[in-house]
Amino acid sequence: MATHHDHSTAGSDDAVMTELLDLDAEVLHAYLSEVTAWVHRLAGDPAPSHLLDLGSGTGTGTFALLERFEKADVTALDMSAPYLHHLRNKADERGVAHRVRTVQADLDATWPDLDPVDLVWAASSLHHMADPVRTLTDVRTTLRPGGLLVAVELESFPHFLPDDLGIGRPGLEARCHAAMAEERNARLPHMGADWGPLLTRAGFTVETERVFTVDLTPPLPAATGRYAQLCLRRMRTGLEGRLSADDLAALDALLDEEGPDGLLRRGDLHVRTTRTAWAARRPDRR
Ligand SMILES: C[S@@+](CC[C@H](N)C(=O)[O-])C[C@H]1O[C@@H](n2cnc3c(N)ncnc32)[C@H](O)[C@@H]1O
Repeated sequence: MATHHDHSTAGSDDAVMTELLDLDAEVLHAYLSEVTAWVHRLAGDPAPSHLLDLGSGTGTGTFALLERFEKADVTALDMSAPYLHHLRNKADERGVAHRVRTVQADLDATWPDLDPVDLVWAASSLHHMADPVRTLTDVRTTLRPGGLLVAVELESFPHFLPDDLGIGRPGLEARCHAAMAEERNARLPHMGADWGPLLTRAGFTVETERVFTVDLTPPLPAATGRYAQLCLRRMRTGLEGRLSADDLAALDALLDEEGPDGLLRRGDLHVRTTRTAWAARRPDRR
């Protein structure tokens, strides 16, 4: 049977989200390499030494930045103790623990006491903040004058499915995304915002904006099936009552690990998503 309700408790939810964030890093590694190369070029010379990963999660950005900025250290900041614990374990395994510091803080409640940094990376985290302009204003005071902030945001989970699923219900995934967006708009009103004006309001000078397109075609590594499964399972939790019974049944067939149509068995997954990045500087004078 499909187990799409098996992450109803807080503990297992953390475990699922941890796996999902790590799969983001694994499946989207080529995009990460592209975006950090772009950040490296924008940051210029001398390369930044002290980096802050704001809302680091399990360290997708932290590790990509450590790889790109070979001499830098990264402060990974997040409100989630389990994510930071996992991130520290990964840093140990990868032999980079001496370059990573973790800080647990809920940025809606307080801005922690941080040393000045040369570069701030905030990926898929700003839309979670209750008052992003206030948080960005705090970020600006921690960034050294002239330092760079890179904010990366996403529209939604990636798309994985072909239109013809072989089980009927053409357009199922698009309907899932539309229904999910409806549910999410009230909960996360800043998701999909135009961050340029918000960065300006927080006192940054926006330098550039760039859309990164991910388009991974089959054959894809096995991790892709698991990634699709976790993303669609997570979407499924908010779709009850928002999709027709036939659509929900088709989604359950895809999520059924043992069934013939399960995502792990499909060879036709195709990962499509975009990430939009804004690069902004703290002006020298502020
Ligand atoms: C979608 S995850 C992105 C994680 C990571 N940046 C990545 O790219 O994989 C959003 C992260 O923001 C963190 N977060 C959300 N609200 C926060 C807050 N108020 N203070 C600190 N961190 C927060 C969450 O705990 C989560 O780790």
